[in-house]
Amino acid sequence: MSAAPPPPPAPPASPVTWQVCASCGSEISETDPRLPCPRCRGLLELRHRPPAQGGNALRATFDARWGVRRGVLASGVWRYGEAVLPTAGEHILSYPEGNTPLLASGAVGRWVGAPELLLKHEGQNPTGSFKDRGMTVGVTQARRVGARAVACASTGNTAAALAAYAALAGLPALVLVPKGQVALGKLAQALAFGARTLLVRGNFDDCLELADQASERLGVYLLNSVNPFRLEGQKTIVLELLQQLGWEPPDWIVVPAGNLGNTAAFGKALVEARAWGLIDRVPRLAAVQAEGAAPFAQSFRGGFAQRCRVEPHTVATAIKIGNPASYERAVRAIRDSKGVVTTVSDDEILEAKAVVDGAGIGCEPASAAAPAGARRLIQEGVIRLRDRVVAVLTGHVLKDPETVTRYHQELEPRPARANRPIEIEARLAEVERVMGG
Ligand code: F0G
Repeated sequence: MSAAPPPPPAPPASPVTWQVCASCGSEISETDPRLPCPRCRGLLELRHRPPAQGGNALRATFDARWGVRRGVLASGVWRYGEAVLPTAGEHILSYPEGNTPLLASGAVGRWVGAPELLLKHEGQNPTGSFKDRGMTVGVTQARRVGARAVACASTGNTAAALAAYAALAGLPALVLVPKGQVALGKLAQALAFGARTLLVRGNFDDCLELADQASERLGVYLLNSVNPFRLEGQKTIVLELLQQLGWEPPDWIVVPAGNLGNTAAFGKALVEARAWGLIDRVPRLAAVQAEGAAPFAQSFRGGFAQRCRVEPHTVATAIKIGNPASYERAVRAIRDSKGVVTTVSDDEILEAKAVVDGAGIGCEPASAAAPAGARRLIQEGVIRLRDRVVAVLTGHVLKDPETVTRYHQELEPRPARANRPIEIEARLAEVERVMGG
């Protein structure tokens, strides 16, 4: 017979920040390191007391910090500290991260069919993906609760970010990744930054289950996106793009969706931004999944009547996930933003990627699901031609060099946008020959 779990310590009477279980509503102190909810195993999320000043005053505070060059306020995450983790204080561990560009590209806009399209390039973060935004907060919290070591399951980018931030903090890191299904750049980062790297014979969903069990057994702090502190950092993708737009919200924000941490974080950011008077209306979210790994899109088509699970297949290994952990939070994000969930094929992902890459911007395959999804939604008339659309590119082009070189050297059939390398002898005549001289 197992003993009933001890009741979670309640937060102090008037806290600035506390944790709430999304399933049973228990309120838990923000420094309780247990995950998930110790009472019912539901997902935890953070609540913050609204900042003393909202609206224009809060916008002015954030605007005054823009361009700060030193210290934690130079971070595109901690600039929004009031909305992220107001109580983090001296524990903050920042690279810094964030401050990613919002890019206009005629070539990508034309291909998508939205001339005003903007690309928020999260691949410009220190380890090359948006995960750094969550990890700075996650590792900060690990330090706060006195964690001995940190761990995560990952399709690669979370592992790279965890490995880097753990190394910066001097904490041992454990990462579990699916063997043979992680892009080369990401695996290289995890190894380079010194994480103990386990190649699990299974898929990402198996890794997540194992990480969950192992962290509990070994007393290691789990930093997957089930950890609510990670999501607080990822909210700043939205806050930063809103600030870059002068707090004038776009009509749509389009984001690739795998484990659904980002979708959930974006929804929370938008609802809070509206409640705190940073924006006067909530843009619609469009979450985009790969056709072969689309349990969330399947649930959406059924009106979210049931949670679906699939055996995932896609070239976009970052989002090759069949049983997304943040499902319930993401449902709320889609509902709160009157959002949609759509799918794109691997061919559409690879074509979108070739367009983004060919425009000189570059992104990894999962990221290309965002412009590919925007294109599909425009073709279907869900996104209208004059709508203002921001698509989030989640990872850097160098994350997955194998997919790039395979695409450009494929012969059967040769992809429309392939840029085949040409092998020659070391003679000028050969260069002239291939250049048509
Ligand atoms: N894009 C990239 C480049 C990613 O690495 C991920 C997730 C996503 C999109 C999907 O975001 O899970 O919040 O819906 N990568 C995780 C990882 C799963 O382990 O690196 P999500």
